[in-house]
Amino acid sequence: MGQAPVVYGQSDRPPRGDYARAREDYTCEQNWQAYSAQDHDTYHRLYQRQSAQLPGLASQAFIDALPLLGAKECIPRFDDINQRLRRATGWEIVTVPGLIPEVPFFQLLANRKFPVTDWIRKPEEFDYIVEPDVFHDLFGHVPLLFNPVFADYVQRYGEGGLKAARLGACEQLSRLYWYTIEFGLIREGGALRAYGAGILSSAGELPYSVRSPQPQRLPLELLRTMRTRYKIDSYQQTYFIIDSFQQLFDLTEQDFTPLYQALQGQPEFAAGASMPDAAGTTNP
Ligand code: PHE
Ligand code: CO
Repeated sequence: MGQAPVVYGQSDRPPRGDYARAREDYTCEQNWQAYSAQDHDTYHRLYQRQSAQLPGLASQAFIDALPLLGAKECIPRFDDINQRLRRATGWEIVTVPGLIPEVPFFQLLANRKFPVTDWIRKPEEFDYIVEPDVFHDLFGHVPLLFNPVFADYVQRYGEGGLKAARLGACEQLSRLYWYTIEFGLIREGGALRAYGAGILSSAGELPYSVRSPQPQRLPLELLRTMRTRYKIDSYQQTYFIIDSFQQLFDLTEQDFTPLYQALQGQPEFAAGASMPDAAGTTNP
């Protein structure tokens, strides 16, 4: 698309990808030849640092599936991952230049296509970037797409997104994405573990989300979650916990239309608001 880039997501800067090379549906080719030795080295070092701290912090389903990404020493070829992913759950990853607008994003998910950014952060951004890069998208999101129940949840979320767009409820629904797919915690064998991609791709937030006494941790509840605003530039102040991916799937199977109606006119919760009375919007 030859137009000026629009701001996607909640950042106030334009996205940094090259959108001119994208097709109508925002997908493009992974330009694998263009990666430099330094790019591959950045991926390798991020992979090593993050995989070393998974035991005891990450969901077992994630740990088990991680090797299916293939190459660790270099940025994998997406086609290589797709050969295994298609066979496992019928999902595939598609390349995008960066964040894309809501409706095309939902459309891809509804068709079992997960958009993965192909560029990688610069070495000086090793610990933190605002926009998702290939390390966040691949390492954080793709392993759980090998899990059949989680994979179905993400597709249903895409369909739900298209419906939310028709109902003007994208903001509410996107909070569910944020607090599950990006920053979700799960209880496994009585212990807390992370399954959200934003946590799993972050060296600092992984131990923080599971162990720190600071944040609030609540059981996932649809209305509460969809009322809770979030911060994109700091560790989360609230995490929502599920008991299993099946529970997450079952919980979200219901028709959200009455939920969106119920949410209208209800005050939002600030990112760190505690239950039951701190609505956050009216803090003096
Ligand atoms: N069941 C939801 C609806 O009717 C769609 C949805 C599914 C939303 C899974 C999120 C996750 O809108
Ligand atoms: Co993400």
